Amino acid sequence: MPAIAVIGAHWGDEGKGRIVDLLAQKVNMVVRYSGGDNAGHTVINPLGEFKLHLMPAGIFGPATCIIGNGVVVNPERLIEEIALVESHGVATGKLIVSDRANLIMPYHQLLDRLEETSRGAKAIGTTGRGIGPAFADKAARLGIRATDLLDRKYLRERLEAVLAEKNAIITGVYGEKPLSLETVFNQYIKYGERLGPHIRETSRIIREALERRDKVLLEGAQGTLLDPDFGTYPYTTSSSSLASAACLGVGISPSYLKEIYGVFKAYCTRVGAGPLPTELNDETGELIRQRGQEYGATTGRPRRCGWFDAVASRHSRLINGFTGAIITRLDILDSLKTLNICVGYRLNGGVTQDFPASIAQLENCQPVYEELPGWETDTGSIRQYRRLPLAARRYIARIEELISCPVTMISVGSSREQIIYRKQVIYN
Ligand code: IMP
Repeated sequence: MPAIAVIGAHWGDEGKGRIVDLLAQKVNMVVRYSGGDNAGHTVINPLGEFKLHLMPAGIFGPATCIIGNGVVVNPERLIEEIALVESHGVATGKLIVSDRANLIMPYHQLLDRLEETSRGAKAIGTTGRGIGPAFADKAARLGIRATDLLDRKYLRERLEAVLAEKNAIITGVYGEKPLSLETVFNQYIKYGERLGPHIRETSRIIREALERRDKVLLEGAQGTLLDPDFGTYPYTTSSSSLASAACLGVGISPSYLKEIYGVFKAYCTRVGAGPLPTELNDETGELIRQRGQEYGATTGRPRRCGWFDAVASRHSRLINGFTGAIITRLDILDSLKTLNICVGYRLNGGVTQDFPASIAQLENCQPVYEELPGWETDTGSIRQYRRLPLAARRYIARIEELISCPVTMISVGSSREQIIYRKQVIYN
């Protein structure tokens, strides 16, 4: 069976967790391929409401759950999340962590905070989870990987060398106290004892599953517009959130990837700094924030809210090659009289449909809006597309047209059943 990927199409927080939780009921394996515990998925199911950061959102279903090599793993957080789901009766024996995954170390979290503070007004607004420093170390070949937790001697030697470098920066550049080798080593040895049974070579496990025609879902973290290459760089995260990164992040050939679903919120949100061309700093923005409870699942920060940006969304669709779009949170717009969709950017006296690479240009882009009537009807109980109010169907149809991608699912609330399927999703 081919693999399918579920990708955030905006700036993260599109509701991928809720979609993966749903689709995970139909698949044999769910694999995370990028990011780390900067991600925050809220999953609401019959067991309760869970805010997960590292654990694949598929953990509540029957599927095997894998944290792929492309993820940076904070072992402390993972152990906490294992305990959390186990306390609700969820078996975690089916959780496997790639032995090649890099680990988040205490100095990554410390340096993330120190670097952000030193950026002052130019701060990225990171989640403070050490993600950037951990991926920087991976590229600089200074990373410590899950497999290292299983080799006491190697872990100590490696940590000794890396920590000496990190402490030189922590003390010399930032004037902070150095971290103790003994403390960090002993802590990570304990993590290794706890996580050891979960750590394995995973690319073969995934490949073999695909070869025996199991259904494998690749779960994205963050969103396309936070991708370091194609997002709003430098206001991005540090690992690729794109469909093309999914195969690398789990160690399979791209030839397996056949279905790619982009998850778009029915409006736009962003948490942290950086351009959000359609941002609403007015009553409507506040109404969306309150109705949608748009506060970060990881940091609790209020999310910035704006109209649906079809320019950014189309860019996202083209870069990822989405085979289908999933629109979430349509119900949040239920009370609005009129809605706007951004169909172009006014820039340097002209109008463009392209999403600029230059952050300076993006900051100067003025959205060109198309106004559509609202539906002013509660959609939360609707389960069939044809039962949606005409104005809501027109809104969806216009998005579909602007991003040139069929909308396959629409969510109208946070519980599992509040979904409208327009066609069979997964192996259609
Ligand atoms: P970092 O990934 O913690 O380095 O943060 C870099 C940027 O990505 C910041 O603007 C964060 O707010 C944003 N970010 C990281 N992870 C997520 C996420 O899962 N949802 C939304 N924004 C995120």
